[in-house]
Amino acid sequence: MILVTGGAGFIGANFVLDWIAQVGEPVVTLDKLTYAGNRANLAALEGDGRHTFLQGDITDGALLEQLLAQHQPRAIVHFAAESHVDRSIHGPEDFIQTNVIGTFRLLEAARSYWNGLQDQAKAAFRFLHVSTDEVYGSLAPEAPAFTEQHAYEPNSPYSASKAASDHLVRAWFHTYGLPVLTTNCSNNYGPLHFPEKLIPLVITNALAGKPLPIYGDGQQIRDWLFVKDHCSGIRRVLEAGQLGETYNIGGHNEMANIDIVKRICALLDELRPRADGQGYATQITFVKDRPGHDRRYAIDASRMQNELGWQPAETFDSGIRKTVQWYLDNAAWVENVQSGAYRDWVQKQYA
Ligand code: NAD
Ligand code: DAU
Repeated sequence: MILVTGGAGFIGANFVLDWIAQVGEPVVTLDKLTYAGNRANLAALEGDGRHTFLQGDITDGALLEQLLAQHQPRAIVHFAAESHVDRSIHGPEDFIQTNVIGTFRLLEAARSYWNGLQDQAKAAFRFLHVSTDEVYGSLAPEAPAFTEQHAYEPNSPYSASKAASDHLVRAWFHTYGLPVLTTNCSNNYGPLHFPEKLIPLVITNALAGKPLPIYGDGQQIRDWLFVKDHCSGIRRVLEAGQLGETYNIGGHNEMANIDIVKRICALLDELRPRADGQGYATQITFVKDRPGHDRRYAIDASRMQNELGWQPAETFDSGIRKTVQWYLDNAAWVENVQSGAYRDWVQKQYA
C-alpha cells in the first residue's frame, strides 16, 4: 500500500488512477480538498476496495502519525501543495503553510514511522517528493536546459516554497537517513487540469467566448509534458531511483506561450468550429505581465533516460490533441469546477 498526498488534484489524481489501473496496489489518498482538490477526479475509484480517500491537512502532524500507524504504507508519494504561481504572488501565506510547514510535518511523521519499522520494511520504505523545475529559476535564451546540478534560484513565492521543501527533503536524508527521492518536473498538461492554468484556461475561455489572456509579449517559454508521462516517470523513480538523489522529468517540448495558445485555437477550429465562422485566435488578448515572470524553463531529462530508461510516450501534438478532446468531452467537469458546484456534489455524495 502507498500513501499519496494531494491525490485529488490534477497530477495526483492522474497518478492515483494510473497507479490503480497499472500497478494495482492499494492507495490511501490524503487531500485537504482546497479549491484545487476535487473528489470527482477520483470518482472512477468509488467502490474500488483498492482505494481509500481521507480528507485531511498535511500540516496536521497528529493526523499524519495516526494514519501512517493505521495504514502502514510502504511508500509516500507527496504531491500536496499550493501550486499556482499567480495565487502565490497575491497571497503567499498558504504556500508557506502547505509547501514548507506541511512538507516538514510529513517528513517528521514519516521519520517517526520509518524508525519504528522492522528491518526489511525499513529498507524498502520510500518517501518520494514531487517538485518542480521552477526551483532552478529562469534560463537565458541560449543556456542549456536544467540538469540536476543546476543551482537553485527560485523567483516566485511558489517556487521559493517548493525550493524550501526540496531542501528539507534533502536534509532529512543526510541528517536522519530517511530514504527519500525527489523529482523536479516541467509544466504538465492533460485531463483534470484546473482551469486557472494556461492550457485549460485557454481551452475553457475559448469555448465560453471569453478573452484568451496572454501575459506580456507571450514569448515566455515553458517545457510541456503530458501528465501521464509525468506519472510514469514518478513510478519509475519510485521503483529504481537512487536514495537521496533528484531526477529531472521533462518532455523536450519547449514552446512559447503564444504558440501554445495558437495551437489550441487551431485545434478548436478543427474540432469545434465557432458558429460565426471566425477563428478562436481572434479572442487572444495581450494583458499586463506577471510580476517577476520567469522567461524560460527547459528540462534536461537525460538522467531519467540514461539511468532509469524512462521516456515520455506522448509528443506535444498527440498530447495536446488528447487534452483538447478531453475538455470537449467533459464539459460537465469544467462547469462543476468553475461554479464550485463540485463542493455541493461532494457533500451530497460523501456526507
Ligand atoms: P493542484 O493544485 O492541482 O493539486 C494540489 C492538491 O493538493 C489538491 O488536491 C489540494 O486539495 C491538495 N492540498 C493542498 N494543500 C493541502 C494540504 N495542506 N494538505 C493536504 N492536501 C492539500 O496541483 P498539481 O498541479 O496537481 O501539482 C501537484 C504537485 O506537483 C505539486 O507539488 C506541484 O508543485 C508539483 N508540480 C506541478 C507541476 C504542474 O505543471 N502542475 C509541474 C511540476 C511539479
Ligand atoms: O514548471 C512547472 C510549473 O508549471 C509547476 O511547478 C506549477 O505548479 C504550474 O502551475 C506551472 O507553473 P507556470 O506558472 O509555468 O504555469 P501557468 O499555467 O500558470 O502559466 C504558464 C505560462 O503561461 C506562464 O509563462 C504564464 C503564462 N500565462 C498563464 C496564465 C494563467 C499567461 O500568459 N496567461 C494566463 O492566463
